[in-house]
Amino acid sequence: MYEHDVIVVGAGGAGLRAAIAANEAGADTAIVSKLHPVRSHTGAAEGGINAALREGDDWELHAYDTMKGSDYLGDAPAVETLAQDAPDETIQLEHWGMPFSREDDGRVSQRPFGGLSFPRTTYAGAETGHHLLHVMYEQVVKRGIQVYDEWYVMNLATSDEADPNDRECHGVVAYDVQSGNIEGFKANNGVVLATGGPGQAFDHTTNAVSCTGDGHAMAYRAGAPLEDMEFIQFHPTSLPSTGVLISEGVRGEGGILYNNDGERFMFEYGYANNDGELASRDVVARAELTEVNEGRGVDDEYVHLDMRHLGEERIIDRLENILHLAEDFEGVDGLVEPMPVKPGQHYAMGGIDVDENGQTCINGLYAAGECACVSVHGGNRLGGNALPELIVFGKRAGRHAAGETLGEPEIETGYGDDVEDETDADLPVQPGATGLETSGDVAADGGVTASVDSLERAVERERERVERLMEKDSGIQHAEIRSRLQNAMTDYVNVFRTEEGIKKALRIIRDCREQYQDVYVDDPSRTFNTDLQQTYETRNLIDVAETIALGALVRNEFRGAHWRQENQVRDDENWLKHTLISWDGGEPNIFYRPVILEGEEKTYEPKVRSY
Ligand code: FUM
Repeated sequence: MYEHDVIVVGAGGAGLRAAIAANEAGADTAIVSKLHPVRSHTGAAEGGINAALREGDDWELHAYDTMKGSDYLGDAPAVETLAQDAPDETIQLEHWGMPFSREDDGRVSQRPFGGLSFPRTTYAGAETGHHLLHVMYEQVVKRGIQVYDEWYVMNLATSDEADPNDRECHGVVAYDVQSGNIEGFKANNGVVLATGGPGQAFDHTTNAVSCTGDGHAMAYRAGAPLEDMEFIQFHPTSLPSTGVLISEGVRGEGGILYNNDGERFMFEYGYANNDGELASRDVVARAELTEVNEGRGVDDEYVHLDMRHLGEERIIDRLENILHLAEDFEGVDGLVEPMPVKPGQHYAMGGIDVDENGQTCINGLYAAGECACVSVHGGNRLGGNALPELIVFGKRAGRHAAGETLGEPEIETGYGDDVEDETDADLPVQPGATGLETSGDVAADGGVTASVDSLERAVERERERVERLMEKDSGIQHAEIRSRLQNAMTDYVNVFRTEEGIKKALRIIRDCREQYQDVYVDDPSRTFNTDLQQTYETRNLIDVAETIALGALVRNEFRGAHWRQENQVRDDENWLKHTLISWDGGEPNIFYRPVILEGEEKTYEPKVRSY
């Protein structure tokens, strides 16, 4: 068994930042990650970091844009913390050596991004996340923080009180991909989940194959609710054949969207008469698909993004990476022809329910970054707001887990006094899973760990689970289940959602859960067994996909990225509240908590959201 004060799970932007902060606070800190840090999906973040750095801009404007972008489902205390802390955290990156793009006068460059009232997106070419990872990994190495890379965390070890609010997290169980060993990691102070998003729940996604919602699912099974899972962002410019991201930076620099008739449809059809291509992402994604659905798409599938008019010099200077992506993945030369683009799953606004200090309702269990929902993004995240979230809330979670005092949070977590009763929505598909044995460890095992002994028991359970999977020599392979799940989510829980479609998706998800009972691992090797790891990941995707579809089913309104055919208006009277789903007694339990619109000095009154 390994032992540290703080165990950070995941080595992307949030995990690295949390580890650095915990180390600086004096904690013996370790990172456990299924990938080497610089291979984390943060490296795919192209566009930039929103931070109010310039004269004429200030954190209040950033907070306002973020609340509006969230369609008034962001919690103001978190949104204001993000906007207030982003400038210092961005400057900290600069001091650590982040190679930000610069103006001729030497100042760090900033460009416009969708939904921003000021060009406040700081960037490093079109590979900002790549540099961010390298810069922070250097700091991890410099500080001697222990990194267990290519260790796949299979589960959490928590105590087993009936009420999740009384439970404690004591560590994690992980599989060493290189040796095949399964070991326990005891966390004396806390575990910080920084495992990224669940993009692989969808077929067409900008997310890496590693984005399998592991942290979401582990926290959920341990009793921490997932919040606002129905809010999935579909980025307007992914490449049609692969889902590879073409940065919003292209539109930020002046790139233009055209339909098959050569019309600049964002203006031509009035989707966003002021901001056009730089409306917020949910607006642009719906506009593109409307063009396709109304017969004005190219090849009935996508639209064109044109950057030729920007000129070769500017493109090479600021967007060179985009040229390579378009050429390598679509065979298109962006200097001489427009690029084909369509909406692709990109980001989960929801996640593990945490407060401003990153803490879940389970004592000692934290989450930060995309796997967490604090909530700063609400119904729709603004481009350029993910990276500041990683560094601002990654740092806070790391410090708090290390024992630093950060002040009383205003945001509640778990099932507390402030929640509204469970949904009375008529759920036509019975919530709950048949496959508890393979999906819900806390309930299935009748309790989990509260001590070293029980951490060892948790390790034993995973060893037994692996033996069972390896001994079985026939059944269904995870890839078949995963592919069904991904297709169902892409077909029915996409940009445009209907009650009937979501119900279909739920039925398929639950069928996948049944099928998972018969899953087996075909690869007999004990080392580098990616088949085994992906079988675990698929279980996580099933759990997470079910919460996305359930949230989408009960939220019968149109807010941010969540559009419902049956009710195409934002319903502030009934839905200014977060959806929470907890794994409770063997089935998902849905409840609600009011959104916090009161900031430090003002209340963000919901307004009509137009761009
Ligand atoms: O378009 C992009 O470069 C993505 C940025 C983001 O998701 O924040």
